[in-house]
Amino acid sequence: MTEPFVQLWTGDDLSDAEFTAVTELLRDRRQFDLGQYKDRCIRRRIAKRLRACKATDFSSYLKRLEMDRDELDTLLATISIHVSQFFRNPDTFQILEQKILPDLCRQARATGRTELTLWSAGCASGEEPYSLALLIDELAVTDLDIRILATDVSEPVLKLARTGQFDATRMNEVPAVVLEKYFRIENGRYHLIERIRDKVEFLRHNIMRDSDYPAADLILCRNVLIYFTRQEQERILTRFAASLPEDGALVLGRSETMADNVRCYYHSEFPVERVYRRTAEPVTAPVV
Ligand SMILES: C[S@@+](CC[C@H](N)C(=O)[O-])C[C@H]1O[C@@H](n2cnc3c(N)ncnc32)[C@H](O)[C@@H]1O
Repeated sequence: MTEPFVQLWTGDDLSDAEFTAVTELLRDRRQFDLGQYKDRCIRRRIAKRLRACKATDFSSYLKRLEMDRDELDTLLATISIHVSQFFRNPDTFQILEQKILPDLCRQARATGRTELTLWSAGCASGEEPYSLALLIDELAVTDLDIRILATDVSEPVLKLARTGQFDATRMNEVPAVVLEKYFRIENGRYHLIERIRDKVEFLRHNIMRDSDYPAADLILCRNVLIYFTRQEQERILTRFAASLPEDGALVLGRSETMADNVRCYYHSEFPVERVYRRTAEPVTAPVV
């Protein structure tokens, strides 16, 4: 018996009309606007779902997307990859622990402030903001109220984040003493203790569409901008600049670079780890 033909979708094989049909469905049914994401990334992800569903033609997949909410959610989750790790890029967290966080605390005290806000934008299932919470706990700051805000565009991923439970694959960079002190293992999953879970506030926020950016002293936006066009990156980095005080810190992903037109707002403090400090340059461009 001959095997049924399975198309090896790549994404380049989608016509513009087919691509648009998917993006319109995500916009209409999930309020997820892909307008400023890089087309090639999105095409590759759609192709991944077409292969996983063993779709032999596009129109049957589109029909399924229209009828099957779960597939629409799975496609959205595939497009907005949620891969993360506790202490992803450990050198970056070392700099945060030894230099940036103590500096921000000092700056706050020097200006008579009693609170600090740390924001993980594009927090996926919570590994990044919880890593910050672990650092803060270890720093044992008692005189400042430190708020850790974690946002993502995906509601399912935020729901997962709030549970504070993780697979072993997310824990590779966690030192044994930290595992021992802050996690309980149940059925092969790592459960973060409640005291640390309670330190992080998870909210849905779309950095591309929502203009209400919170004020923050430290913004981690790692491995998120990479999916956006340069123009969109500039808009987002301008909004971050408006959210940060002078000397506030911004951390991007290791493979991300600062867009040219917004360099005036930031100076690079640790170039390899992509740690930037807000300059005194006022944001004059309209922040839309
Ligand atoms: C690869 S993960 C990065 C997670 C974490 N920052 C890290 O570096 O490990 C990218 C995250 O960005 C989120 N994301 C994508 N587009 C977004 C948007 N427009 N607004 C907010 N979050 C977005 C995705 O849902 C996903 O959880």
